[in-house]
Amino acid sequence: MKALILAGGTGSRLRPITHSIAKQLIPVANKPVIEFGIEAILETGISDFGIIVGDARSEIESHLGDGSKWGASFTYIPQSAPLGLAHAVKTARPYLRDEKFIMYLGDNLIKGGVKELVDDFRKGQCDASILLTKAPNPEQFGVAELQGDRVVRLEEKPKNPKSDLALVGVYLFTPIVFDAIETLQPSFRGEYEITDAIQTLINWNKRVRYEIVTGWWKDTGTVQAMLEANRLILQTMSHKQSGTITNSRIQGEVSIGTGSHLINSVVIGPAIIGQNCKIENCTIGPFAAVGSECRITGIEASDSIVMNGCELRGHGLHLTSSLLGRNVSLQAEGAPKRTMNLVLGDNSSLTVS
Ligand code: G1P
Repeated sequence: MKALILAGGTGSRLRPITHSIAKQLIPVANKPVIEFGIEAILETGISDFGIIVGDARSEIESHLGDGSKWGASFTYIPQSAPLGLAHAVKTARPYLRDEKFIMYLGDNLIKGGVKELVDDFRKGQCDASILLTKAPNPEQFGVAELQGDRVVRLEEKPKNPKSDLALVGVYLFTPIVFDAIETLQPSFRGEYEITDAIQTLINWNKRVRYEIVTGWWKDTGTVQAMLEANRLILQTMSHKQSGTITNSRIQGEVSIGTGSHLINSVVIGPAIIGQNCKIENCTIGPFAAVGSECRITGIEASDSIVMNGCELRGHGLHLTSSLLGRNVSLQAEGAPKRTMNLVLGDNSSLTVS
């Protein structure tokens, strides 16, 4: 079997961050979100990956490389335009050829991985297999209607969802899906939808199996979802501490990277601080992920992602529900104590008085 990872989306709901960083490379607990998918697929024994890329091709390619770092082989497949998930699969046909494959949306995270799902698909006789999960906002996803143990209908972003079962961004296919894709027309949003291709397989009486995800699942397409994924990963990952700690207190599960120095600070887990950071007179956490090479003084930061190279100075400024891009400069010294929710793109500079 092969894997097809989709990393071609524009990440419009994560602007301004995605003006300068591919959404699949945004770090969750200090690891680019796409790497969680890659690692989940590697657990299944699959090592041939096709990675669909769009405008962010060079950034993604230079970050992930040829796959040798993971003992895998990565082939980059440019998609001419973001015309939908089914269009991406069609684009990958010369790479996938006549093999079964797992398709994984590069901004999805699933607890428990996909090994069992792939093992069952390898052994079984199904034409396609989908994952579903109960969602409070099903209208924002593809939605499945079940009858007994069969999927009878799938609808992309329905106005009136027939159930609360959303399609998770992980799919398993045999090459018959290429025939279904050939019959598609663009949807209301102008895209060739993989949801419609699977509906075509159902119409053709092909065997479409489903499984319900019981652990958490996250589509990290929005800031709030990204922060929620960050909270979930920080809670479940294994933590380790290096660096130097001076007159500081660490409470709960906390990771600190090599070369980082904590001075007169408190870190409340779950939280992670990357390498070579200097954190002074701060309270970091819970649920904070601070990247590498950051200088932070006098800040409280909780439930936030702060990317590499940020320089934050404040007098008791409390950052929460915030997503800060790389090399953000925030100066709030002398400002009254306050709480801020910020979403700032790379290299932003903000002075608060
Ligand atoms: C896509 C699929 C949708 C699925 C979702 C999962 O949506 O079209 O059916 O539920 O991924 O993340 P999109 O991210 O294109 O809005």
